[in-house]
Amino acid sequence: MIESKTLTQFIIEEQRKISGATGEFTLLINDIATSCKAISDGVNHGALADVLGSAGSENVQGETQKKMDVLSNDIMLHVNGRNGHVAAMASEEMDEIAQIPDGVEYGKYLLVFDPLDGSSNMDVNVSVGTIFSVLRAPESMSSPTAEDFLQPGTEQVCAGYALYGPSTMMVLTTGNGVNGFTLDQDIGEFILTHPNMQIPEDTQEFAINMSNQRFWEPPVKRYIDECVQGVEGPRGKDFNMRWVASMVAEVHRILTRGGIFMYPIDEKLKSKGQGGKLRLMYEANPMSMIVEQAGGASTTGRERILDLKPEDIHQRVPVVLGSKNEVERVTRYHQE
Ligand code: AHG
Ligand code: MN
Ligand code: MN
Repeated sequence: MIESKTLTQFIIEEQRKISGATGEFTLLINDIATSCKAISDGVNHGALADVLGSAGSENVQGETQKKMDVLSNDIMLHVNGRNGHVAAMASEEMDEIAQIPDGVEYGKYLLVFDPLDGSSNMDVNVSVGTIFSVLRAPESMSSPTAEDFLQPGTEQVCAGYALYGPSTMMVLTTGNGVNGFTLDQDIGEFILTHPNMQIPEDTQEFAINMSNQRFWEPPVKRYIDECVQGVEGPRGKDFNMRWVASMVAEVHRILTRGGIFMYPIDEKLKSKGQGGKLRLMYEANPMSMIVEQAGGASTTGRERILDLKPEDIHQRVPVVLGSKNEVERVTRYHQE
């Protein structure tokens, strides 16, 4: 244990620095942490808890839901909806936004989440995660609509993820740097173990699904082609590659040792009428806030992701994020 500060202590101390803070945000973060502990428990038990395999249903995105997708979504809705800190919630797994239960007061915040990211990894026992984003609810506090969620990423009050890997971690930002907490399973607390996480500006490691190569646009083809040419190519150095197929795991690796992650737009996605693979509100925005707060950069290749004005809660976008100098190079290739 590097520092023995708990997540709750840390958030309370952060909130004390803000005049007029009511403590409601601290309580919301506590609820999110509780839900992630419950999801972590389900993920850890795996086959013992009969949570592997398909749920036999499809989500709004037309993807087959895993049992654990459905369970994680239910946990997020239940734990975060009952205490009066949120006004409504939106999830990758739900067609419409979720209103809070009858009799519960409207809270100040809107909660947006991907309850289980990388869920295709569940059955093969590889890292998965939960991604979340907190926005302000409209002042009126009457039942929010999907429109109220359509705020650019720059408006996020907080963004974070839980990673269910060899250890369970929670990494989050409230716009004042990025901090990582490791779940101590014995006492059930997230402990600050990774203060002030920083992404190195340079890297020799990229993450992209290479099987889509023939569908990519020329700037992405050029960038990856130059990386793959290694010492003999224009970059004059060798690159390494990783692809976990869990964005949470890829972003965590980048926060730990640098790297660039890309899920670009390609011909295959375009032919399906999609603007990308990853979802702006549940994946791209929260991860972009975290990456920028850790000194990295995040773009669609053409625009800064956090500046995009969402048109639909389920909108998809191209994503290029990570070590600043590499992301800037990819952006430059898009301009040339
Ligand atoms: P989800 O499990 O929430 O649908 O997200 C999976 C996402 C992301 O985490 C990952 O980077 C990517 O989809 C994997 O895509 P491929 O299946 O094309 O590798
Ligand atoms: Mn996801
Ligand atoms: Mn998911």
